[in-house]
Amino acid sequence: MNVCVIGTGYVGLVTGAVFSDMGNDVVCVDKDARKVEMLKRNEMPIYEPGLEEMVERNQEDGRLTFTTSIGDAVRNAKVVFIAVGTPPAPDGSTDLSYVAAAAKEIAEAMTDYTIVVNKSTVPVGTGGFVRSIIEKHKKPESEFDVVSNPEFLKEGDAIKDSFEPDRIVIGAPKQEVAMALLELYAPLERPMLITDVPSAELIKYASNAFLATKISFINAMANVCEKTGADVSFVAKGMGFDQRIGKEFLNAGLGYGGSCFPKDVDSLNHKAKALGEDTLILDAVTKVNHDRTPRFIRRIHEFMGEVKGKRVAVLGLAFKPNTDDMREAKSVEVIKALLDAGAHVVAYDPVAVEKAKEVLPAGVEYAANAYACSEGADALVVMTEWNEFKLLNYEKVRDLMKRPLIFDGRNIQTLERMKRLGFDYISIGRPPLLNGRK
Ligand code: UDX
Repeated sequence: MNVCVIGTGYVGLVTGAVFSDMGNDVVCVDKDARKVEMLKRNEMPIYEPGLEEMVERNQEDGRLTFTTSIGDAVRNAKVVFIAVGTPPAPDGSTDLSYVAAAAKEIAEAMTDYTIVVNKSTVPVGTGGFVRSIIEKHKKPESEFDVVSNPEFLKEGDAIKDSFEPDRIVIGAPKQEVAMALLELYAPLERPMLITDVPSAELIKYASNAFLATKISFINAMANVCEKTGADVSFVAKGMGFDQRIGKEFLNAGLGYGGSCFPKDVDSLNHKAKALGEDTLILDAVTKVNHDRTPRFIRRIHEFMGEVKGKRVAVLGLAFKPNTDDMREAKSVEVIKALLDAGAHVVAYDPVAVEKAKEVLPAGVEYAANAYACSEGADALVVMTEWNEFKLLNYEKVRDLMKRPLIFDGRNIQTLERMKRLGFDYISIGRPPLLNGRK
């Protein structure tokens, strides 16, 4: 099938690469000429395992092309995906200006019947909005339909999630329109759900808000654990065995960041409020999440004592492992607070350092690896649960540090191991481990 994808951000680029890998002819369009040139040279604007190889393979085979010119790409495509950015507006709502601009350009370029698919995460009702823009700008003879096909991929697992999604949701105005998308996705042999357009739009927000709720819920329980001597890892495990609850997304820590959860919860909250509906749950989920880092910083002060003039090693900068994405990364808030308190911060991340430099204050020193980062440190702070941090030689880390004190914001170690190694170890929702000292 001839497919056009507008926008080569996370969702657009991965979607384009995966559709081409499935044997379709895909043209990816982006306004940013520099990015398009980079992609033509197989240079990825994001770090995503497996993506570069896939883009290279499909470009070589001629199934995947990149262009800045929307006209030909839309004219030759049966299905056009809108996968442009939907950034948050200052009031928490979603800025749909890029979606609107893409819809107008599609309308102007369309000749034959075209299916326009909203892949970007957009508030319920956006399908109608896109439809009205296209109606206004299209040639009288052009026919089209607007479909919602939300994307559920996770950064760091994007390729796997695209090939093996838990479900494919297709919100279409009529069955015949949904069939074209069914045909496109059929080779994946995954569960597909056909709905009306608004339901599909809302499924995406409801799913993300529910996952965010799970995270905030377990973090609220972690706070109770810290006051009672209970261990949140056991609590989460015990809850997760109940199949109605499930074990996923019950990792207590510094809360959720990234480009989706914070913005999607805010957007849904804004929409529900605008509709005059109660948003107590969403307010609470957001509040618990916002309180995570200030609480962690208070614990650093409580257990470290004087921070001024101390060397603090920070392991992990990205908002989560296997990505270089720094959007809403909790490391930024923690590092700023440490710098404000007069600490000397030395940071290391396996892939996010270059992106981190764009958002972190100038005073941060960057180390070449985790061991160099730990050297001479008065405390080590774990911000991202990269696998390599779990597998470090902690005897070596302990010997390199000035004081064997770890603040673990992601619970990557067991209390037993840290006790055996002689660390003072402060984690989330678990009793503080102060080896030999009270
Ligand atoms: C999320 C959704 O999972 C995905 O379906 C959607 O399409 C986009 O948003 P992503 O933002 O890439 O994906 O990351 P995810 O792995 O879901 O993690 C989001 C945040 O929640 C991270 O900051 C992570 O550290 C945090 N998290 C996740 C927890 O704190 N605890 C958990 O148990 C799980």
